[in-house]
Amino acid sequence: MWRVGIIGSGNIGSAVARRLTDIGHHVMMANSRGPETLEDQACSLSIEPATLSAAANASDFVLIAIPQFAIAQLPGGLFASTPPETVILDAGNYYLGDRDGHIADIDGGLPDSLWVSREIGRPVLKMFNTIHANRIVEGGRPLGAPDRICLPIAGDDSAAKAKAIALAEALGFDGLDAGTLGESWRQQPGTPVYCRHLPLGQARAAMAKARQEDVNTARAHAQDRARTLSIATKGMVGKWDPNQRANRSGTA
Ligand SMILES: NC(=O)c1ccc[n+]([C@@H]2O[C@H](COP(=O)([O-])OP(=O)(O)OC[C@H]3O[C@@H](n4cnc5c(N)ncnc54)[C@H](OP(=O)(O)O)[C@@H]3O)[C@@H](O)[C@H]2O)c1
Repeated sequence: MWRVGIIGSGNIGSAVARRLTDIGHHVMMANSRGPETLEDQACSLSIEPATLSAAANASDFVLIAIPQFAIAQLPGGLFASTPPETVILDAGNYYLGDRDGHIADIDGGLPDSLWVSREIGRPVLKMFNTIHANRIVEGGRPLGAPDRICLPIAGDDSAAKAKAIALAEALGFDGLDAGTLGESWRQQPGTPVYCRHLPLGQARAAMAKARQEDVNTARAHAQDRARTLSIATKGMVGKWDPNQRANRSGTA
C-alpha cells in the first residue's frame, strides 16, 4: 500500500484520490482551508483529511494539484522534511492571465514544472498534467488495450520516474519516460500530446513533434480552446464533479 499526500482537493486531486483509494492505497488530502473542510471528500473518496504539512510528508508520493498561481502561496519550507525518497508529482499547468496571472520566468521560457521545483525547493516529476480529470477516473484500461492512455512523466531522477510509471500502470495507464524536467515543455498546454489522451506509440510520436519555439503559441491555443469549451458548456456541466460520472470538464 502506498501512502500518498495530495495537495489540492479539486478536479485533479479528487480524481487521482478516487482511483488510488479504489485500489487500496492510503491518501491524505489537503487544501487551503484545512482538514475540517474535507469531510465530504473523506466520505465520498475515502481519503484522510490532512493538513498541508501531513500531506507534504507522505512517504511514497506527494501530488501537487493546485493552480500554478497558488504554488507561491504554499507555506515556506512545506517540503523541508518530506522524506528524500518521496516522489513529488506536479500536475499543474500554467494558464497565464485570468487564472494564474503572469509568472515572468515562465513567460520567459522556463518550463512550468521547473519553476514549481524551484519554488518548493525540491525536485518534482511532471505527471497528470496532460489528462482530463474525468479520464483519470474513467479512462483506465488493462495493459495492452488499444485505447490505453499514456501519461508522459518528465523529471531528472530515473528511479523516481520508474516509481511514477508503476503508479500510472496501477491506475490503468501507460507511463512514458518523457525526459528531463528541462524538457517538460514538450507536454505543456497546447503541445501535440496535451489532453489528446493518446496511446503510448502515438504519445511518443506526438512529443517528438513538439517544438520549443512554439510553446507560447501552443499555450495560447490551449487557453482559447479551454475558453471556447467553457462557453459552450456553460450552464450544462459547470465544474466537474468526480462523484457524477457523466460530467465532463473541458479544461485541464
Ligand atoms: N481539471 C483537470 O482536468 C486538470 C487536468 C490536468 C491538470 N490540471 C491542472 O491541475 C491544477 C489543478 O487543477 P484543478 O482543475 O484540480 O483545480 P481546482 O478544481 O480549481 O482545485 C484547486 C485546488 O487547489 C487548492 N488550493 C488552491 N490554493 C491553494 C493553496 N494556496 N494551498 C493549498 N491548496 C490550494 C484548492 O483548495 P481550496 O478550495 O481550499 O482553495 C482546490 O482544492 C491546475 O494547474 C490545472 O491546470 C487540471
